[in-house]
Formats: sequence, C-alpha cells, structure tokens
Amino acid sequence: MALAEETIPAGEAQLISLLRQKIVDTRPDGKRDAHQKALGLVKANFTVLHGLSDELKVGLFADPPGNYRAWIRFSNATAQDDDIPDARGMAIKVLGVPGEKIIEHEKNEETHDFVLVSHNVFIGANVREFAIIADKKEKEELPEFLREDPRLAAIFTATLRKFKNLLGTDYHSTTPYLFGDGRAVKYLVRRQNDSIELQENEADLTSALKANLEQHGHVLDFMIQFQKDEDTMPIEDASVAWSEDESPFIKVAEIEIFAQDIDNDKRRALANTISYTPWHCLPEHRPLGGINRARKVIYEAVSIARHDELGEPREEPTSDDFDAIP
Ligand code: HEM
Repeated sequence: MALAEETIPAGEAQLISLLRQKIVDTRPDGKRDAHQKALGLVKANFTVLHGLSDELKVGLFADPPGNYRAWIRFSNATAQDDDIPDARGMAIKVLGVPGEKIIEHEKNEETHDFVLVSHNVFIGANVREFAIIADKKEKEELPEFLREDPRLAAIFTATLRKFKNLLGTDYHSTTPYLFGDGRAVKYLVRRQNDSIELQENEADLTSALKANLEQHGHVLDFMIQFQKDEDTMPIEDASVAWSEDESPFIKVAEIEIFAQDIDNDKRRALANTISYTPWHCLPEHRPLGGINRARKVIYEAVSIARHDELGEPREEPTSDDFDAIP
C-alpha cells in the first residue's frame, strides 16, 4: 500500500446506499440529520500564508496566496441543549475560490468547505462500524454495546463533552484528505494563544459566542498534518489519531473571525439553509477513506431532501452575497 491510497471494502457502496436511505427517511422534516442545532454563523477571513515552502503550495494553498471571505457555522452534533455532553462542529465555507471543484454538477461553484469537529477521532472506524453504531443507537442498545467495546467506549467518552465556549477548543477533520498527488493530510483549527480572555456560558454557547465577538476579533490557525506511515496513520480508519510526534501539524493559513454581531434573522436563516460537505473542494484536496466516501452521498441526499421539504432553493453562497447579510 502507498501513502494516500484508499482501499474500498467489498459491499461498501451498498451499505452506504442503505445508510443514506435510512438517514434521509428518519430525519425530522426540513432538518439536518446531524448537527441540526446551529450555535452561530460567523463571518471570517481565510488567509493563506505567504512564503509557504514549495511542498505546501498545493490547490487552495498554491501561489498567489489567497485571501478569502468565509462563513463558519458552529453547531452541536445533536439537537440537544448546550449543557449536555456532545461534540461541537465547526464548518468553514471559503468563498470565491477559483478552479473546478470535484462535484460534477457543482464544479463551477466557488466554495471550498472544511468540515471539522471538536475531537481528533471519529466514532466509527469505517462505514461498517458506523452503521452498527447507528443501528444500536436506534434500538436503544448503545450503552450495552459500548460496555463490551472499551475502545469505542473510550472514544465516546472523550468525544461527548461539555464546553464553556466555542472558540477555546480545537477542531479536527478526523478523516484524511488528499494534498496533491500521493500525499494525505488531516486538518486542525486552533485559536492562537492570546491575551483575550474568553467569555463562558455552558448552558448557552450562542450567548458566549456573541459575547466573545462583541468587542474583539479572534485569530485561529489552520493547520495540516501529513500522513507519514500507511499502517500507523491509516486512511481507512477514522477512529485512529495520527501521531503528532511522528508528524506535527504545520500552519498553512489563518482564520480571522472579526468582531461582529451574529444575532440577526438573515444569519439564522442562512445557518439553516447553508449546505456544507467535505466534497465541496478542489480535486487536489479530495476527501479520502470510507467515512468520507459515505459522506459524499449522504450529505447531498440530506441537503436535497431538507431543501425540498422547506421549499428553499439549494444555492452555494458567493462572495458577492457576503456583505448583503448583516
Ligand atoms: C458516515 C459518517 C457520517 C455521516 C453519516 C454524517 C452525516 C451528516 C449529515 C447527514 C449532516 C447534515 C448534512 C446537511 O444536511 O447539510 C452532517 C453534518 C455535519 N457533519 Fe457529519 N456525518 C458523518 C461523519 C462526520 C465526520 C467524520 C465529521 C467530522 C468532522 C462530521 C462532522 C459534521 C459537521 C461539523 C456537520 C455540520 C455541517 C454544518 O454546519 O452544516 N461528520 N453529517
């Protein structure tokens, strides 16, 4: 096996198809299946660093270094109240990115998404394991199942946490992405250590975010971690963290979330209708591994279904619309 190489298990496509149908059918009308509860949609700048070494100048990070607008949607992984242990999502939609994108019928869109979560590994190594977990959850047998699987139980415990605010935590891709030919990376976003103390509100993360953006902007580092070993840093197992000792994260861009008021109806409406998928991207950054192959089909199916149910058009935001939303 080579670096960045995928291995598709027999029967995976059928399993993804079953999972897609089940997820589309069992969702509340007009809603996402996962990450339904938006905690805030924020405006940001996504700036590629100047002076990157040649091996880092790939796709979105190629010369000349871009400075883009971006919409970032924070969410709870479930629809539960904020003070219940959960994973939190950070989905970044970079706008105005030139170049043909991967999804055939959206190839001329100018959006490039990074979909991240507040833990470094995913609950479910691959599609088969994810499907088993979803099934146990539906039958309300998950606690017994986890008691017999200490590896998965440990991932659940580490993933489902309470948070006091949304800016003081790291966000990870958990799954790998191509970084040009024959190279794979994972993504990490981390707030720069600075002197601004963060406001906290465990029971209302939206209020904490609003308070944190009232007076100050915040700068976050966007980083990549290269796969260095096919066995210890697998492509097909999203439940394994890649060692930072073997391969430290490298900063390639900066995200500036500037001071702003996030509390308005247009923002809330866009937070509901916007569609993120890791497949909104340039081919140089193609999502890798079984969990990402499943997401290609499932995110689009759910997005189409919820827009149909709401009678809303499915449109990618553009840089031109950006300033029209307060
Ligand atoms: C097979 C595994 C997975 C399935 C079936 C799944 C399913 C979904 C679905 C159906 C949505 C809503 C899509 C939409 O209607 O726009 C979603 C959103 C999301 N997922 Fe996943 N997901 C999976 C894996 C992951 C992984 C590995 C991550 C880790 C980063 C993740 C993070 C997110 C986030 C942050 C959102 C919210 C995006 C937004 O703000 O709109 N998911 N997921």
